[in-house]
Amino acid sequence: MGATDVQIDLISPDSFRHGHPWEQYAWLRANAPVYHHPEPGTPGFWAVTRYDDVRTVSRQPKVFSSAAKGPMVGDPTEEQLAGTRQMMLFMDPPEHDRFKLLVSRGFTPRNAQSLTARIESLARDIVDDVIERGECDLVADVAGRLPSGLIAELMGIPRSDGERLYELTEMMHTTDDTVHSPEERAGAVVEMLTYAASVIEEKRRSPGDDIASTLVQATVDGDRLTDGELQMFFLLLVNAGGDTTRNLIAAGLELLFAHPDVRARLIADLDGLLPSAVEEMLRYTSPVANFQRTVMEDTTLHGVDLAAGDRVVVFYGSANRDEDVFDDPDRFDIGRSPNPHVAFGAGGPHLCLGMHVARIETAAMFRELLTRLPDVEPAGEAERLASSFIAGIKTMPVRFTPGRRLAID
Ligand code: HEM
Repeated sequence: MGATDVQIDLISPDSFRHGHPWEQYAWLRANAPVYHHPEPGTPGFWAVTRYDDVRTVSRQPKVFSSAAKGPMVGDPTEEQLAGTRQMMLFMDPPEHDRFKLLVSRGFTPRNAQSLTARIESLARDIVDDVIERGECDLVADVAGRLPSGLIAELMGIPRSDGERLYELTEMMHTTDDTVHSPEERAGAVVEMLTYAASVIEEKRRSPGDDIASTLVQATVDGDRLTDGELQMFFLLLVNAGGDTTRNLIAAGLELLFAHPDVRARLIADLDGLLPSAVEEMLRYTSPVANFQRTVMEDTTLHGVDLAAGDRVVVFYGSANRDEDVFDDPDRFDIGRSPNPHVAFGAGGPHLCLGMHVARIETAAMFRELLTRLPDVEPAGEAERLASSFIAGIKTMPVRFTPGRRLAID
């Protein structure tokens, strides 16, 4: 393929209107794995698209900083970054180590496992709410309700409040100003922080059996999180755990629609194949498209000289299709093993804190969907999210043979 065959633009939401820009990724991996990508109003950034390079960047926080210019693609001023400084995603070690130590107690595999029964009952209730209708929007009525219900469980708040928080994250994640204006997005942040402050106060007064209560009390060597840090952590939690999982479920089902043979194989051996199917959905759909780092000292990546102050952006979707790592990478193979995908990050300090929970949520929802709505099928065009950060689906009408509710109200 020649340089002129593929137009490279990895920041316009338009490039993600039909899913990740796979063609651009493939061209870059083959021709310019560390590519200088223009970005209006800034000196541009280096787009990193190969698996090994994405790992290198993710695992060297001293050289590739999350704090300097933040992890979201862009060239913010210090003033713009000021409000985010207390969020762990925007920290480097050692600040990040301290924060992670304090919050990670709630997110061990064992803790996630103890949430399993609650997540399964949540998935059952969600399917109950649509099963008699014979049709629904898979995103709003099913996939999106699971993470918002889970957030409500984690924070110990009513499910309806969890749903409002989830609407706010969707506003925040839009990168298209015509869908939600910058003022609207800023308003969503304020609303969420105000809500978080009230939860913190409430949990201090009357602690419950939820992560929010654990976090307001958590101490390590006498150290504890300040109110500001807690608010920012809740904001991060709601954002990071919300539409990522929602998109994985919606995009995963879309994949099964497109591959009826794979779907039949999965249904025939749900217990055996569900765990590896979830991993393959993660690899294949890569719900988080990218994160940014800032170069802290002159260095070389894949033979390209990078200068201190340059920004690099890692593209997880591209790394997950790297032909040097995955056999036949464009094949959706639910039995793939090994499957060292980087959908949750490529190692290093910021590896997704919620990955165990996300896996449990996704498996629980597919078990419900495939056993209780076995003939679910598309009932119209799916509409994708206007975002170059979160690759996902906004609405997805589906229909199915109506069935019976399981829960006794
Ligand atoms: C399919 C679902 C999900 C995907 C694809 C995903 C992906 C990611 C990625 C790519 C990162 C950054 C990794 C890095 O920079 O190295 C991340 C960080 C994070 N995720 Fe997730 N995530 C998912 C679900 C969740 C859930 C359910 C939660 C919480 C309940 C969560 C909480 C977090 C937090 C708190 C961080 C920041 C960790 C840090 O800065 O140390 N995520 N996630």
